[in-house]
Amino acid sequence: MQAIEKKPVKDVFGLDDPAFAKTQVKVFASTVDTPAIVDGFKFTVENLRRMMVWAAAASLPDNFFKANMKKNLMIFGPTGCGKTELVKQFAARTGRPLFRMQCSEDTDQAQLFGSWKLCRPIAKEEPGEDAGILEKGIQGIAKAIEKLAISIKRNTGVGPEMTFVDGPVLRWARTPNAILVLDESDQLLPTVSMSLNCVLDGDDIVVPETGERIKIAPGALVAATANTNGRGSAGGNGGSASLYKGTKRQNIASMDRYFVINTTYLPEEEEKQLLINQIGLPDVAATAMAKLAGKVRSLFLGLNEDAGANGEPLEFTITTRNLLNWGMSYRLFNVTGMDSKIAFTEALKMTLLDFGSAAERKAVLDLWETIVADS
Ligand SMILES: Nc1ncnc2c1ncn2[C@@H]1O[C@H](COP(=O)(O)OP(=O)(O)O)[C@@H](O)[C@H]1O
Ligand SMILES: [Mg+2]
Repeated sequence: MQAIEKKPVKDVFGLDDPAFAKTQVKVFASTVDTPAIVDGFKFTVENLRRMMVWAAAASLPDNFFKANMKKNLMIFGPTGCGKTELVKQFAARTGRPLFRMQCSEDTDQAQLFGSWKLCRPIAKEEPGEDAGILEKGIQGIAKAIEKLAISIKRNTGVGPEMTFVDGPVLRWARTPNAILVLDESDQLLPTVSMSLNCVLDGDDIVVPETGERIKIAPGALVAATANTNGRGSAGGNGGSASLYKGTKRQNIASMDRYFVINTTYLPEEEEKQLLINQIGLPDVAATAMAKLAGKVRSLFLGLNEDAGANGEPLEFTITTRNLLNWGMSYRLFNVTGMDSKIAFTEALKMTLLDFGSAAERKAVLDLWETIVADS
């Protein structure tokens, strides 16, 4: 499937920068798997440049280079800074289908690649909320019988009809110009990550259950997101990254197969623009809010990365997600007639501050008071 058109970067990503004067972007016909465009999503020049090189790697003419270029991109950075959305918006704007795998330490090959399912399942998907204990019990037994039937069928060929249902990796591999997103990929057990290495190398995928050999479709790309660089660091001086529970140190051979973007929250000025454009806040409010987010983050990121074994990390940050939600809940409190000053603190508490410890709440509210007094 060829690109249907080539367009200037400005038209596709809304970024007008001389860095892209010579760049044209391939745009494909959207499919049902292409994410929806979020209007006003902000790309940065640095990130977009690297993404363009990554995407180009998948559609170079034959023999452009003699060596094989990697087509995988790891985006790592703190929570809520827009890593997943960055990939989704890249796909949305370029019309690419996107297949997302939410990774956890329980993710296994069957979830990634696919597994056998009965054509007509014995058990219902999930018993309803109001199901009685008897119905739940029967469902549990049916599920166990189903598992047993699948295992007998696999081992002896005898039993009910089954179909092999593709997981996200196979659906991606069959779709031209698609992006596979391994979201929160540093949660994967290193052995599971390693099982993806042949996929990252672009090799044919042989499905052991069916014997099918799948050639990865042309134009296919892989993106992974993570909070750490796969070596227990959140990208600073190599501290503990201890807040990101469940992240695993990855095998260096896995990381070696990725290009990398170490990203972080947008600069204060850009976030201020988001608050103005996406939420309709006045300039003075947006300025103060973006400033608070910046200050809290510098404490969070600075302390955590250097906390090491004995440090006390500040467990509290303001993500872009929450900065926007603070603004939106403020607006809603405000339209109900709440005093503006109270609405700001109430909205901040409701969005995230009430998750904080007493000391954290006080520190952040004090900081907010100072910023408001200065503005
Ligand atoms: N650059 C950006 N422009 C606009 N909105 C953003 C941007 N980055 C993040 N956001 C907002 O923050 C939300 C969370 O981003 P997400 O991609 O889920 O974060 P992460 O994957 O890094 O945890 C997004 O849905 C979006 O509303
Ligand atoms: Mg994410």
